[in-house]
Amino acid sequence: MDDSMAAYNQAITEIIGRRFSCRSYVPKPIEPGLRDQLSRVLAGSSTGPLGTKARFELVSAGEDNLATLKGLGTYGFIKGASGFIIGAVDQGENNMEDYGYLLEWAILFATDIGLGTCWLGGTFRKSGFSRKISLKETEILPAVAAVGYAADKRRWFDSFVRRRAGSDSRLPWDKLFFDGTFRTPLSADTSGPFVTPLEMVRLGPSASNKQPWRIIRDGTQWHFYVQRTSGYGNRNAALFNLPDMQRIDMGIAMCHFELTVREMGLSGEWIHAEQGIEKPDKLTEYIVTWQQKDQGLIYKG
Ligand SMILES: Cc1cc2nc3c(=O)[nH]c(=O)nc-3n(C[C@H](O)[C@H](O)[C@H](O)COP(=O)(O)O)c2cc1C
Repeated sequence: MDDSMAAYNQAITEIIGRRFSCRSYVPKPIEPGLRDQLSRVLAGSSTGPLGTKARFELVSAGEDNLATLKGLGTYGFIKGASGFIIGAVDQGENNMEDYGYLLEWAILFATDIGLGTCWLGGTFRKSGFSRKISLKETEILPAVAAVGYAADKRRWFDSFVRRRAGSDSRLPWDKLFFDGTFRTPLSADTSGPFVTPLEMVRLGPSASNKQPWRIIRDGTQWHFYVQRTSGYGNRNAALFNLPDMQRIDMGIAMCHFELTVREMGLSGEWIHAEQGIEKPDKLTEYIVTWQQKDQGLIYKG
């Protein structure tokens, strides 16, 4: 994250609690003041925590050209959005995680200033969005986000999509967080101050609400793994330039974890430190580690 990135107004736990995938919007332009704030934040968001460069733009409609955004297809999933955040990321080992982290950062900012948002990794037509951001050959456009004023009432279709994805439920702690090995679940009672950052990961959005994040505590290190859903895109997909959605989910988890940890006044950094911990299956892959810097805070259950 760049130093130039603005801070949020509300507490991060509040913002994360408020965010949801909004698919119905009031078709009115985003107020110029808010549009400028969001554009400024996007302009400052250029390098992810794992070092990949990305760029983002807000494409938004004014009163007279609200219809022009309709050409940016969302297959009917999104209704009335007056803006989209479009991004492009360079190739690189951790580019999807970095993209997920940076776009989620911006989505939380949009939430903080009162806008509704929705991640779109599958239900959007790439060609129009790629043209809008003048995508270079060396870049990938993995996903976009709809933004605008949330409509008071959901369409029937929204409720249908939410039910299909099980969007209102999350996996319990014992399926997501572990202590030392994947065989020992980590309980909220023994997580010390990390109970809040972990809960913020749990509340995060993920593609089709698959919630692939798994985290193991190991002394002062928190190892992040992706447990893939079989049949979902993987690293091979990346070879064909198909973005790996579940690595984007991991970037979102990193964003929620780090922002919460930092807001609590704790410090740390992302490192690669795979510890040879036995994985539960072939679908589980190590991604990254959060190394606590607060040496006093070693919580043993
Ligand atoms: C990487 C990613 C891609 C997504 N792609 C789509 C999409 O293409 N269409 C859509 O309607 N929702 C999409 N979603 C939204 C998820 O379905 C949603 O986050 C999940 O069901 C949880 O619901 P919530 O965001 O309201 O908490 C995506 C979410 C993520 C994180």
